[in-house]
Amino acid sequence: MSDTYIDFVSGGLGKKVATSLGLPRPVRLRRHEGPGTPLVTGPVLVLSDEASRGEADAIAHAMLPWDLDVRRDTYLPPDVKWGAVVVVLTGVTRPGDLAAPVLALGSTLRALTRSGRIVTLSRPAGVADAEAAAARAAVDGVVRSLGKELRAGATANGIVVADGLDIAAPSVLGTLRFLLSAKSAFVDGQLVPVSGPGSENPSWDTPLAGRIAAVTGAARGIGAEIVRVLARDGATVIGVDVPAAGDALAGVMNGVRGTALQLDVTAPDAARRIHEHAQQRHGSLDIVVHNAAIVRDKLLANMTPEKWNDVIRVDIEAPLAMNRALLELGRAGLLGSTPRLLALSSAPGISGNRGQTNYGAAKSGIVGMTQALAPALAELGGTANAIAPGFIETEMTRRMPTVTREVARRLNSLQQGGQPVDVAEVVAFLASPAAGGINGEVVRVCGQHLVGR
Ligand SMILES: NC(=O)c1ccc[n+]([C@@H]2O[C@H](COP(=O)([O-])OP(=O)(O)OC[C@H]3O[C@@H](n4cnc5c(N)ncnc54)[C@H](O)[C@@H]3O)[C@@H](O)[C@H]2O)c1
Repeated sequence: MSDTYIDFVSGGLGKKVATSLGLPRPVRLRRHEGPGTPLVTGPVLVLSDEASRGEADAIAHAMLPWDLDVRRDTYLPPDVKWGAVVVVLTGVTRPGDLAAPVLALGSTLRALTRSGRIVTLSRPAGVADAEAAAARAAVDGVVRSLGKELRAGATANGIVVADGLDIAAPSVLGTLRFLLSAKSAFVDGQLVPVSGPGSENPSWDTPLAGRIAAVTGAARGIGAEIVRVLARDGATVIGVDVPAAGDALAGVMNGVRGTALQLDVTAPDAARRIHEHAQQRHGSLDIVVHNAAIVRDKLLANMTPEKWNDVIRVDIEAPLAMNRALLELGRAGLLGSTPRLLALSSAPGISGNRGQTNYGAAKSGIVGMTQALAPALAELGGTANAIAPGFIETEMTRRMPTVTREVARRLNSLQQGGQPVDVAEVVAFLASPAAGGINGEVVRVCGQHLVGR
């Protein structure tokens, strides 16, 4: 779906008009374009506070094999721009510790490249010492505020590394690599908690090689893109959608040499049929992405029982029932050895949306479900996580009234809608071995939504 406003303000008269009127000036985001895509497009600076120096050294060292120009000094020749700045703040114990590294970060921002990256590494705020808790929590405020200041497609995100977890654990490095890369184009202002070590990706180009994934609602939109990105990353993919979408589903699945399963996810035996199909056709089932959903918008005052019940049934009761059955299969040793359950939530599930009490309820429900499932999945060696997209350029958003759409598109720090591929990249990352230390979390793909929570 095209956003012609971006083209208009990107050059000539449009640029002048937008600048003089103070209108948003979004830029085309840098996105992953296959194996040759550079991780970042300039030198990477690693900063830290005094107490975090050792861990900053470990991070700088761990990044060397990524073919990056890693530096520890803020000096930069005038014609060069920073590709990214990584700020290690894992050792802060009082708010005053933040001044030196954060102000040093500030001094680099004018020389940050287009679609540049700021990534912090910090520890969780849940400690008994109030000074240390304040200092750790303060990192969130820096990241979220900076996300709103950056321009030209640059993003600020953070990784919150569990106490006791090695800073160079595969999950921390995998998350860092993802947040630095063009694959995280529409992830902005987020803090991603990493609680376990995860394991190294067998390859950065095909981290899902040998894995079997099922994606519901695969015939179009975000689901079809998830299918393509999982397949690009090496997975064998089963696409699931209702029989009425059979032709479109076949087209998507033929394109990735996957298999199609016509199935309504509200069928009582839906999970068993997906599992059976996976076993018979591919020999295993490792990853399930609950993407299928419907909307039936109405103000609550006008809500009908049909509209309420349909949305609840498809958007939350079906994933719940399927996960219940999948857990039983997992406990019986009938899922892959590191099962990944992923589910699509949505911005209205976090901040609410007028006319969407039913959809908001279901999508908040996805968050609750994910958090509750995490311990059970950990016992099986796997994870459960949710992905919450904001405004994404799809058929659904194309049908919005023009003015509403134009306003909604700009209400995030990147001043544009995301693409389905931006959501799919986050799904593929959370399905990868390196994300094995992220469990029970919600990762937003919203360009840092500016309203609501
Ligand atoms: N588009 C956005 O901006 C946006 C924003 C936030 C969240 N999301 C979420 O992302 C996911 C995909 O959204 P989309 O915009 O691509 O939706 P879409 O409507 O374009 O596609 C949904 C797919 O699910 C299928 N489906 C619906 N009911 C089904 C059922 N009972 N059984 C099997 N398949 C069924 C449909 O046939 C369709 O192919 C949804 O969970 C949605 O809530 C989308």
